[in-house]
Formats: sequence, structure tokens, C-alpha cells
Amino acid sequence: MRTQVVIIGSGPAGLLLGGLLTRVGIDNVILDRVSKDYILHRVRAGVLEEGTIGLVDKAGAGARMHAQGLTHEGFSLAFNDRNHRIDLHALTGKSVMIYGQTELTSDLMAVREASGSTTIYDAANVSPHDFDGSSPYVTYEKDGTTHRIDCDYIAGCDGYHGISRKSVPEDAIRTFEKVYPFGWLGVLAEVHPVRDELIYASHERGFALCSMRSLTRSRYYVQCPLDDKIEDWADNRFWDELRRRLPAEDAEALITGPSFEKSIAPLRSFVAEPMRFGRLFLVGDAAHIVPPTGAKGLNLAASDVHYLFEGLRQHYLEKSTAGLDAYSGKSLARVWKAVRFSWWMTTMLHRFPGTDAFSQRVQEAELDYLVHSPAASASLSENYVGLPY
Ligand code: APR
Ligand code: PHB
Repeated sequence: MRTQVVIIGSGPAGLLLGGLLTRVGIDNVILDRVSKDYILHRVRAGVLEEGTIGLVDKAGAGARMHAQGLTHEGFSLAFNDRNHRIDLHALTGKSVMIYGQTELTSDLMAVREASGSTTIYDAANVSPHDFDGSSPYVTYEKDGTTHRIDCDYIAGCDGYHGISRKSVPEDAIRTFEKVYPFGWLGVLAEVHPVRDELIYASHERGFALCSMRSLTRSRYYVQCPLDDKIEDWADNRFWDELRRRLPAEDAEALITGPSFEKSIAPLRSFVAEPMRFGRLFLVGDAAHIVPPTGAKGLNLAASDVHYLFEGLRQHYLEKSTAGLDAYSGKSLARVWKAVRFSWWMTTMLHRFPGTDAFSQRVQEAELDYLVHSPAASASLSENYVGLPY
């Protein structure tokens, strides 16, 4: 088989890139090691920046997102038993949309199936080859046969645990990492959200987040020790702990019910540099990971896709390599700003084990300054709604 671009990974990055390429007639094949159903059962985040929304529209997959997504013009920071609203729209003129990544992935898959572009699921041992030359190719195994796809370019959209970054020679790549000393315990429940906007709560017992997937499906998180297990957290314990970390008005208003999904995720910051190796490009989680506090993971995958799509479009349709040559630098400039913001939100809102009294007072002063300074709130807001591409 031959195609112009092989995309490894059928998550948001791979599907969005494939959708955009197909729309302008650039032939592409997506490979994934798991099934479509497995991907659609992964629970992920749900806050979309306007840039991400624009790309989904450009890929022709925005109908259900606009019909069912919830536009949010602000969120609350809760501490000292009070809510402080950050008015994103007043401070930036922009808003964000709450729409589950699973739903977005499903919409992108549906558009791809309708387009007739090739997606190969359950592809084992996917491996990129000769990407440092001019004739790269990808091999994979399926139904007991080894297949080869010759191509012009390879997009490594295969996430943090994927093969693409691991296929790069160690001396050609530099990585940066920070692991946080806690995790997030998250639940999904078919209950009305406690508020119509998100609440990021900082409390002496730990961080908590009140989010949602719709007006009838809530998504809640509490910071927990890294060695906690979901077996330690019966629903009643979770709801009680969440109430203790929220302002009294929200604790009283909280509607609880049986959780139908419960998981614990570790938090890390990770960046790989550069993001291009000859004809192989790293995209999304394959190149960077952020703690979910800033809601940037999916949105960074989208901005990487924007830069790579523009580069490939210029190459094939305008015979210019400028966009491809600029991909890594442009992506990393935006990635590091989002990594900084996500680190800052995490550091400001969580309780770090063993923190000293001085650091605790500084954290309290930062929150107090943030909600009482229009300049500080505007800075938070422009990062939260997404810096320009
Ligand atoms: N071969 C083929 N496919 C692979 C391989 C491999 N060796 N390794 C991983 N994959 C596939 C996974 O099965 C997954 O479907 O690559 C896909 C990667 O998707 P994501 O991990 O969702 O990464 P990305 O598309 O960059 O989206 C980033 O997803 O993880 C969240 O928080 C993250 O919201 C962010 C978004
Ligand atoms: C979510 O709804 O899962 C969510 C929302 C905002 C975040 C992180 C996760 O910052």
C-alpha cells in the first residue's frame, strides 16, 4: 500500500489531522493498535478552546458538538469557603465549550468513515521506518500478516506510551519531566452538576474539581495520595470528601448518586524536543503531557494538529516546506506556555505533601491576589481560553 501521510494513532490528534488532510485531498491512512470500541470507552477530559472548536468545524465534525456542547463564559475558584468567579468572557471576549473528548472522538470517527479514508484498527507492532530519509514507511501486523505502507510523511499521534517517540534515536531527542506527588480520583455520575459552571477548589484537605459532561451527567475529581486505590474509595466516601472540600453553599447543593466510572490518574508534566525527526512528526500526547488542572491536554493536541496540517497543506498544495520546517518550533512555543500554565494552576491549587508554612502562605496570597486583581485574572483567563495559534 502507498499513501501520502501515515498517521499512527486514532485518538483526537490522529483523527483530527486525518480529517483535515482528507478535506483537502491529501491521502492518509490511520493505524491504531486497539479497536474503535476500546478508544470510545476511554474516559477523558472535556474543555474545548475556541481554536479546537474551529478545527473540528474545519474537519466537518462539529454538528453534534455545537448541538450538545455547553458554552461556558466563566468558572469559579473556591477557597476559604467562598466561590470567586473568573469571568472569562468579560476578560478575554472568549469562552470555552464543555464537550466530552469521547463524544468528539466519536464524531471524528463518523466523519472519517463517511469520507472513505482508510483506518486500520487492531494493528499490532506498528513501526515507523526510514523516517530520516526520503522514503519512509510503516509496518504493522494484522490477521497474521505483516503489512507495509510506503508514504511521504509519518505523523506520530500515538500518545505518551506510543511507538513513535520511542523510535527516535536517544541522542536525537531531549525530554523534560516533572511528576507530581498526588493523583486525581475521578468519578462520572448521572446527576445534575452542582453548578452550571466548573468549580476549581483549593482546600487544606486537598484539591477538588466540579465539572460535567452535560446538564445531567457530572464529572467530579478529588486530589488523592499516589498510592490510593479505587477500592479505597466507595461512593459514599467520595461524596463526603468532595463536600468537605467545597464551600458550604455547594456542599449543601451537591446532588449525589451512584458513580458509573471511577479512576485514579497520576499527574505529570512532560515535553519531548524537538517534535520533528526528518519525515516523522510527533503530535499531541506523543510529544507532551500536562496535568489536567489547566484543561490543556486535548487543546494542545489540536494546536499541534493545526501547525502540522498547515505545513502538509503548504507542502502538497503550494510546494512550500516552510510550514513543515517551522512545525516543531511553533508547536513547542505554544506547548511550553501551556505546560507552564498547567504547572502553575496545579501548584497553586493542590496541597503538596510536606509543604512548609511559608509555602502555604504564599499559595494563599497567590489565590487572594488572583481573584482581586483584574490583571492577574485576565492573565489566568487568556491562558485558560487558549493562547492564539
Ligand atoms: N501503535 C498504534 N497505535 C498506538 C500505539 C502503537 N504503538 N500506541 C498508542 N496508540 C494509539 C492509542 O491506542 C490511542 O488510540 O494512539 C492513540 C493515542 O491517542 P491519545 O492517547 O488520546 O493521544 P492524542 O490523540 O494525542 O490525544 C491527546 O488524549 O490522552 C488524552 O489527555 C489527553 O486529552 C488529551 C488527548
Ligand atoms: C473534565 O471535565 O474532565 C475536566 C475539566 C476541567 C479540567 C480537567 C478535567 O481542568
